[in-house]
Amino acid sequence: MQRLDKFMEQALTAYYNSRDPLGVDGDFTTAPEISQLFGEIIGIWAVQQWIKLGSPSSINLIEIGPGRGTLMADLLRGTQHVTAFHDALSIHLIETSDTLKDKQKTTLQKKYNIQWHDHLSAIKNDKPSIIIANEFFDALPIRQFKRDNDKWLEHYIDGGQSVWQAIDTPPLKPTLPPAKNGDIFEYSTAQKDYAELISTYRGAALIIDYGYEKSAYGDSVQALYKHQSCAIADHIGDADLTSHIDFEWLASLFKNTAIKTQDDFLNENGIAIRYHQLNNPSLISGYERLVHADQMGKLFKALEIFNSKP
Ligand SMILES: C[S@@+](CC[C@H](N)C(=O)[O-])C[C@H]1O[C@@H](n2cnc3c(N)ncnc32)[C@H](O)[C@@H]1O
Repeated sequence: MQRLDKFMEQALTAYYNSRDPLGVDGDFTTAPEISQLFGEIIGIWAVQQWIKLGSPSSINLIEIGPGRGTLMADLLRGTQHVTAFHDALSIHLIETSDTLKDKQKTTLQKKYNIQWHDHLSAIKNDKPSIIIANEFFDALPIRQFKRDNDKWLEHYIDGGQSVWQAIDTPPLKPTLPPAKNGDIFEYSTAQKDYAELISTYRGAALIIDYGYEKSAYGDSVQALYKHQSCAIADHIGDADLTSHIDFEWLASLFKNTAIKTQDDFLNENGIAIRYHQLNNPSLISGYERLVHADQMGKLFKALEIFNSKP
C-alpha cells in the first residue's frame, strides 16, 4: 500500500523518464507548444523584471520543467534584440527527465550556452534570478485528505485501488475554511518545498498552471493517457498524473505576489500587439486558444512573485 504522493512520485518519474509526453502523439499539449506567442510574451515579462531589478549586468534565467525547451527558445529569440539583457544572462534549465533533456539540447544547445540541473538547489542564489515554471507544479505529487464522521482519512493506493486510511491530523492549510464531513482537500509537500526554495532567490518568478484562485475543497487529481482521461492507477507510469494548483495557498508561501488569469497576464504583457505585429493568419487559432475565456484564458492562472531580498 502506498500513500498517494508516493504513488504519484513513482508513477510520474517512470512516466517522464520514458517518453516525450507532449504534442498530438503524446498525452497532452501545453501553451508553449500551442503558440510561439506564449514564450515571446514571457520574454517581454522577463525583460521588464530585469529592468525593474535595475538592469543588472549578471542575472540567472531559470526555467523549471522546460518540456521540449520551446518556451525558452521563443523567449530567447523574442528578446534577442535586447542585447544588454542577453549579455547578462546565465541560463539554467531544471529537468529530471533524460528524454526531455535530450529534446531541450536539440532545441537550444547549438545557439545558447545553457546549464542543466536536476534541482533548483544546485544553482547558487548569490545574484538576481528570474525563474519560470509553466505546468511544472501540477506535475508534483500531492496528498489527499477526507473529513469523514468527524475524523480525518488519507488517500492510499493498494493494488490499483483507492483506500482511505484513518489519520490523526492532516498538515495545516490555513487558507481553507473549517472542513465539513465529506470534504476532500489536497496538500503537496513537494510544491511547498519548491515554493519555499524559490522564495530564497532574489528577483522575480512566474508560475503558470491550471488551478483555482481561492483555496477550495475538492478532488482534482486526474490521469491522462493519449489525450483521454483514465483512472489514476489504470496505466501506471504510462499515464500523466496531475492536480489543480491551489494558487491562494501557493501564493501564501511567498511575500510579494500577484495572481492573474492567463488571459489577463498575456494581455497586460502585449500579446494582442505581438499577434498583430506578426500579421500571420496561421497564428490565430493558437492565439485564441491561449487567451479565450472558454479555452485556456481563465482556467490557467499566472502567479507573479517579486523577491526583492533573499
Ligand atoms: C507538464 S510538463 C511541462 C513542460 C513545459 N514547461 C511546457 O509547458 O511545455 C512538466 C515538465 O516538468 C518536468 N518535471 C517533472 N517533475 C520534475 C521534477 N521533480 N523536477 C524537475 N523537472 C520535473 C518534466 O520532465 C517536464 O519537462
